[in-house]
Amino acid sequence: MNVLLIGSGGREHALAWKLAASPLTGKLYAAPGNPGIAQEATLVDLTISDHRAVENFCKSHEVALVVVGPEAPLVAGLADHLEGAGIKVFGPRAAAAQLEGSKSFTKHICAANNIPTGKFAEFHNREAAKKYVQQTGAPIVLKADGLHAGKGVVVAMTLAEAMAGIDQVFDMTGKSGVPVVIEEFLEGEEASFFCLVDGETVLPLASAQDHKRVFDGDKGPNTGGMGAYSPTPVMTKELEQRALEEIVKPTARALAKAGTPYRGVLYAGLILTREGPKVIEYNVRFGDPECQVLMPRLKDDLLTLLLAACDGTLGKMSVRWHDLSAITVVLASKGYPGEYQPGSEIRGIERAEAIEGVTVFHAGTKLQGGKLLATGGRVMNVTATGKTLKEAQSRAYQAVDAIDWPGGFCRRDIGWRALAR
Ligand code: AMP
Ligand code: GLY
Repeated sequence: MNVLLIGSGGREHALAWKLAASPLTGKLYAAPGNPGIAQEATLVDLTISDHRAVENFCKSHEVALVVVGPEAPLVAGLADHLEGAGIKVFGPRAAAAQLEGSKSFTKHICAANNIPTGKFAEFHNREAAKKYVQQTGAPIVLKADGLHAGKGVVVAMTLAEAMAGIDQVFDMTGKSGVPVVIEEFLEGEEASFFCLVDGETVLPLASAQDHKRVFDGDKGPNTGGMGAYSPTPVMTKELEQRALEEIVKPTARALAKAGTPYRGVLYAGLILTREGPKVIEYNVRFGDPECQVLMPRLKDDLLTLLLAACDGTLGKMSVRWHDLSAITVVLASKGYPGEYQPGSEIRGIERAEAIEGVTVFHAGTKLQGGKLLATGGRVMNVTATGKTLKEAQSRAYQAVDAIDWPGGFCRRDIGWRALAR
């Protein structure tokens, strides 16, 4: 069958790589894609926000399934439109995508269904928010409702930071009328837990751990993620079972009961507290860069699993994984997550990929005049598998060193928490 993949990052390159390997895939299209995705798929120039244009493309190219990588098109109702036109979509409709689109929506689902999460309050007024934080004290977490490309959260460790943070998140929500959520600071290690969901059926996939801070040792500002590995020893079988029963299943049931069933991959961002896993956020898509370490470990056919979620047959499926560890190191433009200079040349990806177990996923690159140039903040994901995490890590950094890109940098300690255990 012909498949259209929506997106242009490293996550979508990993999805394209796995979809292209499926015996069920006929023609694989990607919109807008990137030079790495172009090795696996035919790139098409579509305006994703023009849902009618996406529909027309699917109809004229006999596309049987649309796989949506990022959250924004889902929150904007792309799945609603395409399903309305009789086209199958992997990814939730807008109402269910509110799990990522609105922090407030998620907090209310949790509160109403006894799903473990931090205590919270929400505010439309900055003075009231400041008064509240004067009482609670720090550390405290401030979240602007709505999609803010991962920049809508302030973790304030002191009262002064909290006061400045309140102004910052209120400035982000602006006049949109959405609230600011103020949440209890949760202590513990973070883990990402991925499940396929169709209505009330939940099929757990795997866990991964991201590295959100820009510098080694988890220092510096938050980013979209500087590297990831899977599996994560901190997420034991027992904790995974608890996250499934106490968090993901009740969430799926709540949405189904509300008449807005979830279909797609549900990414639970967890903090493993002393009392057990608590949810800090939901994402309605695969993680980026977590997807880049899940795909190389997945033994089963990805397209079969995505179709089962769309067709409501997940209950009959199981998932098998290679007995390997995977790690991905994000190469980012110098200056990221602040300002950076795009356009520097990247060389040596072939040398990196010649190393056993290594695949380089493109995130923010473009081809120009036969040269590969950096265009984004996060530019490449150097990914490696190995029999152990240590082996995967050493292959990944060997591959990083084979790449010649003076305009970039990476963290040198991806995987440290697991290796330090
Ligand atoms: P989010 O965008 O919700 O993933 O938040 C960004 C980062 O802020 C997370 O990866 C956590 O490191 C941190 N964070 C979010 N909520 C909390 C919380 N309640 N307690 C502690 N840290 C949090
Ligand atoms: N890696 C974090 C995210 O995808 O949201």
